[in-house]
Amino acid sequence: MKVVEKETLPEPSANKVRVKLLAASATFTDTMVRKGVYYGFKEKPPLSPGYDMVGMVDKLGTAVANSTLRTGQTVADLTVWGAYTEYMIRPADSLIPVPDGIDPAEAVSVVLSYMTAYQMLHRVAKVKRGQSILVHGAGGAVGTALIELGRLLDLNMYGTASASKRELVQKLGVIPIDYRKEDFVTRLQTEGKVDAAFDAISGENFKRSFNSLKKGGILIPYGFYDQAMGRGGNVVLDYMKVMLWNVLPNGRRASFYSITDLHKKNPDWFKEDLGALFTLLAEGKIKPTIERRMKLEDAVEAHKLIESAAVKGRIVLRVAE
Ligand SMILES: NC(=O)c1ccc[n+]([C@@H]2O[C@H](COP(=O)([O-])OP(=O)(O)OC[C@H]3O[C@@H](n4cnc5c(N)ncnc54)[C@H](OP(=O)(O)O)[C@@H]3O)[C@@H](O)[C@H]2O)c1
Repeated sequence: MKVVEKETLPEPSANKVRVKLLAASATFTDTMVRKGVYYGFKEKPPLSPGYDMVGMVDKLGTAVANSTLRTGQTVADLTVWGAYTEYMIRPADSLIPVPDGIDPAEAVSVVLSYMTAYQMLHRVAKVKRGQSILVHGAGGAVGTALIELGRLLDLNMYGTASASKRELVQKLGVIPIDYRKEDFVTRLQTEGKVDAAFDAISGENFKRSFNSLKKGGILIPYGFYDQAMGRGGNVVLDYMKVMLWNVLPNGRRASFYSITDLHKKNPDWFKEDLGALFTLLAEGKIKPTIERRMKLEDAVEAHKLIESAAVKGRIVLRVAE
């Protein structure tokens, strides 16, 4: 990646809005977009990564000039790509107002990572108060979000994380399992299997998570971390295996989660759920773990840190004050 400077600002067409960005997340998924290994992503480079953003309405297109949006208003959006930028053109109807008084870095932290966690817990697994769950990558962006939201439901949580993230995940409220030293399947067989397992590691891990479920439990695979890191595996094969386990009469279920698919299928849920997350943020019930706030120009370093699993929680790129 390199910074490209343009002479002029982009102009919004009739139904679009120019947004002046305040913050964008730097995430593992952005590294997949950059490397061209984000499954199903059709855009061709050169492009800017950036899956989500928070910014201020800068200019309204002619057809939306009288909408509820106003210049200077803070808004958020799930952009999927392109948010590592100072200005961006977005469809007016995809922008979601951010309540006053919320730190833009905390607001942007909930758009991709917390939304993923929230919808997996509430829309897919439909976990009930007091149930038990297994969270892989517990010290990462989605992992820490799952734990914080799980704590609000008084869940009994196990989380896999390397030693460097043990203290953090324990403090957030999970029983830590150092996956490099301990077999999580054996541990859960001894201490009790779980009602839901959230797994973005892929490959053999999906099977092991499935084997850690109680009768009636659900596996939610939602990513392909190992494959993106070049550790082998096959997305299509993984997908087919999971679908097969779901239909076999084994008393357990499995259901893939994709934020972009659910966003397209049910945009109203997205708006409702993001509203709920902003309320939790405003009420101080959640506090995203932001390890570093970096400048937009530091995106290359941010990706290196993410790809070496050196980040506890998340990195936010501050685009403007
Ligand atoms: N489906 C969706 O809609 C959706 C949405 C958002 C993200 N995702 C996917 O979810 C995954 C995680 O995203 P993220 O933003 O949370 O990434 P992240 O912040 O980089 O966190 C991933 C974490 O996984 C840990 N890890 C690596 N190998 C592991 C293993 N074998 N077992 C357990 N933990 C392991 C790493 O730390 P340690 O190894 O140090 O513990 C790292 O902290 C990515 O694959 C991403 O593409 C999917």
